[in-house]
Amino acid sequence: MISVRKKLTGIFSAAFTAEGIDASFGEVAVSNRPDLSHFQCNGALPAAKTLKKKPRDIADAVLSRVTDGGGMIAKATVDGPGFINITVSDALLLEGALELRRIDELASSLIDDKRMTLIDFGSPNVAKPMHVGHLRSAIIGDAVQRLCVYLGVPKVSINHLGDWGTQMGMLICALREKDPSLPYFDEKHAGEFPKTSPVTIDDLETMYPVQSKKCKEDETEMKKALEAISLLQKGHAGYTALWKHFVDISRAQLENEFIALGIRFDFWRGESYYHGKIPSVIDDLTSRGIASKSEGALVVHFSEEETGGKEIAPLLLVKSDGAYLYGTTDLTAVRDRVAEFSPARLLYVVDKRQSLHFTQVFLAATRAAYAKDAELMHVPFGTVNGKDGKPFKTREGGVMKLSDLISMVVGKARERMAEAGVADGYPEAEREHVAKCVGLAALKYADLVNHRETDYIFDLDAFTRFEGKTGPYLLYTSVRIKSILRKAAERGFTPGTLAVTGDPERALMAMLSRYPDVVISAYEALLPNHLCEYLFELAQAFNQFYISCSIINENDAAKRGSWLTLSEVTLTVLVSALSVLGIDVPERM
Ligand code: ARG
Repeated sequence: MISVRKKLTGIFSAAFTAEGIDASFGEVAVSNRPDLSHFQCNGALPAAKTLKKKPRDIADAVLSRVTDGGGMIAKATVDGPGFINITVSDALLLEGALELRRIDELASSLIDDKRMTLIDFGSPNVAKPMHVGHLRSAIIGDAVQRLCVYLGVPKVSINHLGDWGTQMGMLICALREKDPSLPYFDEKHAGEFPKTSPVTIDDLETMYPVQSKKCKEDETEMKKALEAISLLQKGHAGYTALWKHFVDISRAQLENEFIALGIRFDFWRGESYYHGKIPSVIDDLTSRGIASKSEGALVVHFSEEETGGKEIAPLLLVKSDGAYLYGTTDLTAVRDRVAEFSPARLLYVVDKRQSLHFTQVFLAATRAAYAKDAELMHVPFGTVNGKDGKPFKTREGGVMKLSDLISMVVGKARERMAEAGVADGYPEAEREHVAKCVGLAALKYADLVNHRETDYIFDLDAFTRFEGKTGPYLLYTSVRIKSILRKAAERGFTPGTLAVTGDPERALMAMLSRYPDVVISAYEALLPNHLCEYLFELAQAFNQFYISCSIINENDAAKRGSWLTLSEVTLTVLVSALSVLGIDVPERM
């Protein structure tokens, strides 16, 4: 499948070449004046600068070679200082629309580069509250993972759980204080430890904030937690058994939460997975002189040459007490992942506030040649704020549980549905299913519609509206098309040969023809908001078309059949694109 824009670029590039001008000036873009044209080619202006000629003369010459582009172009004019405005032919629009019926199968032919992508995303911390940042990472990372699958790019996704940090030491201390008689704390205990955990996930959730506050306020408590962590890292049997319980119960809960969000990972690999591999990295870096001692700690310093003249703090690998750090694990993980999966690139979908961390890890990995030829890339995103402008929390001063957030969103969806009379009178189970679809669509779309690097405000009232740029509006439009098709079928009206009989369907088809390019640009820039913006425009274009073309009431069977086919194509594209964003469409609502 080749997008309409690429087909046109081919034609214009050839015309520029024939004029003795570099083919790259023939790039065609979607028109920014859709009232005037579908596409534009603006290459004559920069070409004129290089060649010291008049842009209009170049544009005229190019256009006289293009003519109707072998039937692809209905009208092309030179406007303004030398822009070429292009209106594509109905034949091309028809061909494009018909191809889109098989978009799910054909999408993988849209790009040629099929090298492996590794995506590190989600990555909350075990036994510690998950925050909205982790939710953003999960939603954006999942969209990137789905884009890969859609485009036939092999991928590996890893949930890099924080299961090895200070919080584990804090929890061990908290439990030791509460119940010192447990076998985990008995240094003389021999043999097996109990199979079931002495605490539940609810216990952990109450223990953590209390203990964390204690440690912040009291230095000796913090010291104890760090000691416990150091013993754990050295393999203390009781602490290891206890740590395993903590990880297992937290993980079980996290797994359910990610499933509820419809997000899956190829691997769940906590930081602890890399722990045993760190010593050989340290040896390697030390023996090659990449890491050096500095005030008792082991660090990697960066030269100005490496940093492009910027001042970048050294990466701390081993603290003076022998403890490893967050970056030590990430550096080890680069080496391990490259060896295991041979990716062409490694993407880290993580809060932009961690950009220094990734700069340091990537610089060290590059110096050590751990990434081999692979590209290391931080895919940063902004903060989710509450209406007060501060990072969003679900409870006052409290922590966010993903399950709380999901029930909150689904609850709001239920309210909105009742107001709008959506799914009225449906069986209870179906109405619940619709509420879940609407709630998750609201949550995911509201996150993805923003450029990922901007901060946004968490405003559930706005996210769950059935009008405007929201997930529920897109579901509503898709379901509306389903309902039109159902009603038509009930009357025995069948979809027929697609034709262009007027401007409303021409406009809708032109919008549809942009879809393949939008997918490519969302993938190349790792910006799902391109898809979100497009989906909104497509839904509007359909609703506009439907206002002018009353499908079911149309008496001309050929027209009606064509409109039904066009509705089917639009639905296919909507559902397909929404699935790339991780959004499911219900049958009816
Ligand atoms: N667990 C970390 C946090 O909560 C995020 C991990 C991101 N991935 C990574 N490879 N560092 O901040």
